[in-house]
This record gives sequence, structure tokens and C-alpha cells, in this order.
Amino acid sequence: MGVGTRLAGVSEPLILGIESTCDETGVALVRGRELLGDVVATSMDEYARFGGIIPEIASRAHLQSFVPTLDAALTKADVDLSEVDAIAVCAGPGLIGSLTVGISAAKALAASLGKPIYGVNHVIGHLAVDELVDGALPERAIGLIVSGGHSNIVSISDIATNVRELGGTLDDAAGEAFDKVGRLLGLPYPGGPHVDRLSQEGDREAIRFPRGLAAGKDKERHRYDFSFSGLKTAVARYVESLEDDGQEVPKADVCAAFSEAVNDSLTGKAVQACLDEGVDTLVIGGGFSANSRVRSLAAERCEAAGITLRLPPLRYCTDNGAQIAALGSAAVRAGVEPSPMDFAPDSGMPLDTIIAL
Ligand code: KG4
Ligand code: ZN
Repeated sequence: MGVGTRLAGVSEPLILGIESTCDETGVALVRGRELLGDVVATSMDEYARFGGIIPEIASRAHLQSFVPTLDAALTKADVDLSEVDAIAVCAGPGLIGSLTVGISAAKALAASLGKPIYGVNHVIGHLAVDELVDGALPERAIGLIVSGGHSNIVSISDIATNVRELGGTLDDAAGEAFDKVGRLLGLPYPGGPHVDRLSQEGDREAIRFPRGLAAGKDKERHRYDFSFSGLKTAVARYVESLEDDGQEVPKADVCAAFSEAVNDSLTGKAVQACLDEGVDTLVIGGGFSANSRVRSLAAERCEAAGITLRLPPLRYCTDNGAQIAALGSAAVRAGVEPSPMDFAPDSGMPLDTIIAL
């Protein structure tokens, strides 16, 4: 009997989740759909002076943080390593060096403990984490994944086995567009949260920035796709023209109007997908779901359309081990075979691969 078969049917497995796609080393313990404890270490402070993540620094930081983060998570959850039923680790997408550190550590733990390992998709984990807050997902849901690297709409039948991509960004991801606009306005890195903060002091209607793929034949062909590069260019031109005229740039208004354009597209298309597919639940995940306007606009539009919105609290939205453990737990419950011990990190892991083979 394989380990996968043995675990199938375990309804409340104890899962150790390990996240290392980017700058965060996240470790969490989840039993069934309950988060027992999680700890996140980040190397983000080391990148402020570079204005972007340096992969080599991130890999080294994972190496240094892993054991202390694991120990802290076990202590917080009051769990002994020997009690763990299975290990889940992010297999991708992400920085190859960072992924390699987390996967190597996870494999070493799995081999020494004699437990199965699940290499899970980080992006799907951003949606799975909601089960730790709002309980089991319904039979069908639409997912909106918004992060620094992804903006996707997916149709979810089973979070561990059946997620179908409906659309995604043709260029920048939402968080990425915010970070670029932050840089353009001279805000600190990463710009997303700064643009969000300023946008709350500005007038959303002050400037009308374009909504990508909202008109003409693009509208139908790219019904669930996004494009933010034209918007970003429009913001750049607007700022440049004021600067050329020696006028002060109304940064708060620019941020508010830009944020409105991004979030109008994101929430409008996600709600449309729910209506088209006859699905009454929308779940939003990813680091960008910390954005104040995506939260308020999604709530407004879902309420108007009679759609239940599932939007985890902020601490679950950014990269963390809980999202990985949550997806690992769902995989065990669904009776999915564990990943083979020789599975490889996949920096470009596609959305339709939920568990690494
Ligand atoms: O999911 P995440 O933690 O990392 C990736 O997997 O990409 O998302 C981080 C992204 C960054 O681009 C960051 O600037 C953006 O999410 N972000 C925000 C906010 N908080 C984080 N963007 C806009 N408003 C925010 N409040
Ligand atoms: Zn992420």
C-alpha cells in the first residue's frame, strides 16, 4: 500500500506547510482546516535599496531562516515534528533558488520522518487558504487571484484537483502595476501598499484612466483577461506632462484614479465570471487582496449581484506557510497521490498543475 493510499480518507490530517517562493520563509501547521500556528520570516528589508528582489540574497535568507522558522512554528502550534502526517511545500511558481531551498528542506524532513510530501502550486494556495477562515469551499466557486506576479480568474470545482483558468493578465499583474506606479511617483519599494495608502486620501474621479480590454472586439475575446500596461503608460504620460509644465503632481488623486481603474477591471470581470458560470461564490486571494479598494469594490459588487464574497483577513493574504498547508490538507482529503521524492521546483508552474508530479 502506498503512502498516498494510506493517507486517503484521513479527514483531519496534520500538515506541515512550507513556503519559499520569493522573499518569505513561511512555515505553518494545519490540522484539517484549522490553522494551529504559523510563522513568517521575510528578507524584504534587504531589497529597499535595490528597488527589487535580488534572488541570490533571497535564497541565502531562506537558508538562514528555515530552521528557526520551523522551530518557532512548531512551538507556536504546540506540535512535535513526529506528529505530522504529511508535508506540503510550494513547488512553484517562484524564484528557482528560493524554491530549491524550501523543497530541499521539505524533502529532507519527509525522508527522515518517513512521511509523504506534496509539492503544491503557490498560486492556488492563495485561494485554498480561505478554507482555514471560512470553512470548506462550496461545490463550485470563482477564484480571483491577485498578487505581485499573478492576476487570474479561475473556475474552482475542487481546489486540490479541479481548477480551470478562465483568464489572466496579458502583461503586468495587479501588484506589479501598483509597484511600478509607486516607483514612478517616487514612493518606497514595494510601492503597492504606499499607492494604496495615498489612494485613500485622493479623489477616484479626479482623473479618468483607461480600463484595458474593455471595448471593441477585445471586450469579448478577452472577457476574463486583464491588461494593465496601457494604464501604467497613461499614468506615466499624465505625470510627465504635469512635470513638464512645472505643475505639482496630485499624487493622492493619481493613486486613487489609478487604483480605481485596476480594481474596476479586476472586480468587474470576476463578478461577470460568476454570473456567466452561474456560480454564487467568489473567493479572492493573493498579496494584492490586501488592497483597500479591491476589498471594498468587490464587497459592493458582490452584494449587488447576490454573490457571496470570501475574502480572508489580511494576514492570510500575503505569502505564508498556511496557504501551502491548506492546499496540502485539501490534497490529502481528496486522496491525491503525493508527489514523487524527485519532483523538481518549477519556476513557471502552470495554474492547471495543482500538485507536482
Ligand atoms: O502574493 P504576494 O505576497 O507575492 C506574490 O506572490 O507576488 O503579493 C505581493 C504584491 C506586491 O506587488 C505588493 O506591492 C502588492 O502585492 N501589495 C499591494 C498591497 N499590499 C501588497 N498592492 C496594492 N495595495 C496593497 N495594499
Ligand atoms: Zn503570492
